[in-house]
Amino acid sequence: MRKLIVANWKENPGTESRATKLFKDLILKTGVDVVICPPFVYLEKITAAFRSMSASKKKNLAIGAQDVFWEEKGAFTSEVGPKMIRSLGVRYVIVGHSERRKYLKETDAMINKKVKAALADGLKVILCVGEPLAVRKKGAVVAKAFIKTQLKKDLVGIKTNASVNKNLIIAYEPIWAIGSGRSDQPEDAVEMSLFIKRLYNVPFLYGGSVNSKNVADFVQYKGIDGALVGGASLKAGEFGKLIAKVAKK
Ligand code: PGA
Repeated sequence: MRKLIVANWKENPGTESRATKLFKDLILKTGVDVVICPPFVYLEKITAAFRSMSASKKKNLAIGAQDVFWEEKGAFTSEVGPKMIRSLGVRYVIVGHSERRKYLKETDAMINKKVKAALADGLKVILCVGEPLAVRKKGAVVAKAFIKTQLKKDLVGIKTNASVNKNLIIAYEPIWAIGSGRSDQPEDAVEMSLFIKRLYNVPFLYGGSVNSKNVADFVQYKGIDGALVGGASLKAGEFGKLIAKVAKK
């Protein structure tokens, strides 16, 4: 599989014009698939900019959302359903990011409903899982058991058949590595990848303080299919360097 780099812009940048500029400044490379996930409010402008790009540029690029609600429509103030984002041309969605679990109190049961709804609508789901530091400190065996439980809850009732396998991606993001400048050891990440792939045979992304300097250490492994990138995706130059490093692998 070609390596996949997903840019999670989170609640950035601060204005629509800066978001459009960041998207226009993207430096793409052949051989690497890139998904850009801006905040909801910028999706319309970004998908329009995407549509106006040349076919060759668009080939390796797709747009994603950072969240989705499980109902298509109705009295659910401020929520956004899978069909709504799909109608804009969005193809991917991040579900279960640890920041949503922490700050918005998203539970595994809610995440499970989101994954089901998004898959049913044909979106590609990037399901995020990751253990807190206290768990990791207990060692790899305990961390793996934590991740297995999280995945089981998030994917309960979802039959892993060919079409689900095609549309599900698991992003392993140890919570302590996110935004901390302290990424996981690549050897530990690949060990987690092999463990997860024995349970769910789907692409594996590593996330947590990935940048242009360390990305190659992760994607050099066959078991690591790409990266979920936060901070380093907010500067076109740095993100371009990161993609170039992946293209060389
Ligand atoms: P980071 O964020 O690259 O800034 O650590 C990754 C993420 O939260 O997806």
